[in-house]
Amino acid sequence: MNPPITLSSTYVGTGEVASGARAYGRYSNPTWDPFEDALARLEGADVPALVYGSGLAAIASALDLVAPGGTVIMPTHTYQGALLGAQETARTGRFDLVTVDIEDTQAVIAAVRSATEAKAPLGHDRSVMLWIESPTNPMLEVADLPALVERAKADGAFVVVDNTFATPLLQRPLESGADVVVHSVTKYLAGHSDVVLGACVPAEAPVRDLLLHHRSIQGAIAGPFDVWLALRGLRTLALRVERSGQNAQILAERLAAHPAVQATRFPGLPADPGHERAAAQMDGFGAIIAIDVGSTEAADALVDACRLWTPATSLGGVESLLERRRRHTAEPETVPEGLVRLSVGIEDVEDLWTDLEEALEAVTGGVA
Ligand SMILES: Cc1ncc(COP(=O)(O)O)c(C=O)c1O
Repeated sequence: MNPPITLSSTYVGTGEVASGARAYGRYSNPTWDPFEDALARLEGADVPALVYGSGLAAIASALDLVAPGGTVIMPTHTYQGALLGAQETARTGRFDLVTVDIEDTQAVIAAVRSATEAKAPLGHDRSVMLWIESPTNPMLEVADLPALVERAKADGAFVVVDNTFATPLLQRPLESGADVVVHSVTKYLAGHSDVVLGACVPAEAPVRDLLLHHRSIQGAIAGPFDVWLALRGLRTLALRVERSGQNAQILAERLAAHPAVQATRFPGLPADPGHERAAAQMDGFGAIIAIDVGSTEAADALVDACRLWTPATSLGGVESLLERRRRHTAEPETVPEGLVRLSVGIEDVEDLWTDLEEALEAVTGGVA
């Protein structure tokens, strides 16, 4: 039933190393193959995915596809590690970086149009890269994914989508025409907070060849045992996404109605600005909620008062986690100081609510 874990840094052989032949552990490992095949199928790709040692390694590999001197367009509130990496690379002069409000479709389209016009002299088919994340981490903004991909592709841009929050069960960007999907496999795909892994899912073979070359030469490979664990996690992805999504819907509705919560973002709430888009383009709303409790002090008090919810960064595991996002200094200042991101797990929803409700009472001193 289970693929064996191949613990080997090299493979016995004397022949010329043709592409695809096993030669050395930095180029390939048989333990990667079933995971890469399964993820490609889930995302609807024709070629195998590529697993990396972390989500950020996959992101760095995808960013490297943009032509030297080209432009990368990223959401202002994309995952802060991806933004930081792109900002640092842009400072070296490798590419120009433009940030956009990903909810403002017309502004994104205009940014892509102006970049493709400006970079046309490069004569490269990846001179402009539109980077989409939807929903965004941690603001839960929802991009008009099909419209943005269609317009960006029509203008000649290359499109990468970070699909970590949605997972391929809720959203498949390659079906809309995106060129590459990236994942922090650390999160829902592996699902048990026990590995750090990433993946790129290219739609086509030529782009896969470039990414594979990058991974082999830069060396950001995954350990075989970790990938084996990720494949095990993938087997229960559907159950975990379903249960955590149901829990999140119930909790978001109650949080939105709670007097200590000033704002709630969850695409499953009918009043959420991203609800209509998410309902049209996703098969569910995910299990991440962002609430604003108004101040650093209130957010810290809430996190400290929880007993069942664990104060920790990361998301997408079976257990519920929460954190005040601005404790990370790299988080943009436009993320409110009192924003708490909740990653809803698969525990009993009433247990989760009781803990949150008691913690919120501690914040407000029982004044509801
Ligand atoms: C949306 C998103 N993309 C990418 C990453 C980076 O992945 P990793 O931590 O596996 O390097 C994260 C991590 O939090 C994330 O939330």
